[in-house]
Amino acid sequence: MSNNVNRNYTDKELAAMSNEELARLGTELDDVTVAYRKGRWPVENDPAEKRASNSVIIWLALSIVMAIAFLAVYLFWPWEYRSLGEEGKLWHTFYTPALGLTSGLSIIALGMAVVTYVKKFIPEEISVQRRHDGPSEEIDRRTTTALLNDAWATSTLGRRSTLKGMLGAAGVLFGLVVAAPLGGAIKNPWRAYEMDYYGDGTLWTSGWTLHEQGVKLYLGRDIGTTAELHEGQAGTHYSTQGLSRLVRVRPEDLAAAGMETVFPLAEEHVNDGDRYDENAVVYEEHMHSIHGPRNAVMLIRLRPEDAESVIEREGQEDFHYGDYYAYSKICTHVGCPTSLYEAQTHRILCPCHQSQFDALQYGKPIFGPAARALPQLPITVDEEGYLIARGNFIEPLGPAFWERKS
Ligand code: FES
Repeated sequence: MSNNVNRNYTDKELAAMSNEELARLGTELDDVTVAYRKGRWPVENDPAEKRASNSVIIWLALSIVMAIAFLAVYLFWPWEYRSLGEEGKLWHTFYTPALGLTSGLSIIALGMAVVTYVKKFIPEEISVQRRHDGPSEEIDRRTTTALLNDAWATSTLGRRSTLKGMLGAAGVLFGLVVAAPLGGAIKNPWRAYEMDYYGDGTLWTSGWTLHEQGVKLYLGRDIGTTAELHEGQAGTHYSTQGLSRLVRVRPEDLAAAGMETVFPLAEEHVNDGDRYDENAVVYEEHMHSIHGPRNAVMLIRLRPEDAESVIEREGQEDFHYGDYYAYSKICTHVGCPTSLYEAQTHRILCPCHQSQFDALQYGKPIFGPAARALPQLPITVDEEGYLIARGNFIEPLGPAFWERKS
């Protein structure tokens, strides 16, 4: 430091100094020149001070109310999805806006309270400081602490208990506004639900696991049907009655070197061909199958000349049906859909990080970051000529996780 202030105080002398003296000393030692300083309320019990304090309290109260409103919306508002025409659709529509509005107002009101407080209560001050190099000495550390104490004292927050309490409450509630939504992300990955097209909720099951419960599963192709407009006595409305999103696949539906994405289609949800019923309501189940996170399977029909050079994996020799091979579409790297089949090189490509798998070698990885083969689904054809699953996958689908053994 370049100033001429006495820096040789002993610990005892420093300990004997009052907070005000230490604060002044700190200013001098830091080469700080206070050019201008004026308290906001020099006259005690000034009515204007009371009004200023009230305006801060109002902002804090608004912040607290909005934070509580946010938590109430987050915990109790009907958030489950409702489709068009369903009861509660309007309430559901306002769920996200209500969350945004309450959290936004809570943050804005808290910010306004802090800004108002600084403008109305912290003393006006203009100070100039010259920079210096190197670490701080003990005397600097002590005086800095004193300056902070001084700032607390001059802010008058210490004696404004209402304001202090409300600021604390607003701060805690604001923390909850930030932290509460994270609670929704916490999920027990081992908790098993009833088995359906999503599996039972654990990582080692999928819609194909229904086969283990004796459900006959067809390989269902997504034909992209959407709800249709109906006109009747009750008025005009959209309906999926009689519509199928998934239809069964026959071997002749696929040309050599072709690829089709298929999903599990339980026998009770079939509504196509000779089983078509215009009154059947199966569309929702079909969509559940399509949305099942590990359900997508790539059905590949190899060219006859390629089929001759296939190398089967031990224990999976009979998983294919003729030239038809079914591999999980979920990449074993980090779970993107391996959406491309390049027939010339018989490679399955994952567009995310360019992993490549060999369709002639049980989906073995031959390039890129994926380290495991794509699981293969055992398939066959039923007595009516439709492709069906002959069993479940024999290993977990998708990327690595702690408990998987393969
Ligand atoms: S997810 Fe497929 S290569 Fe990364």
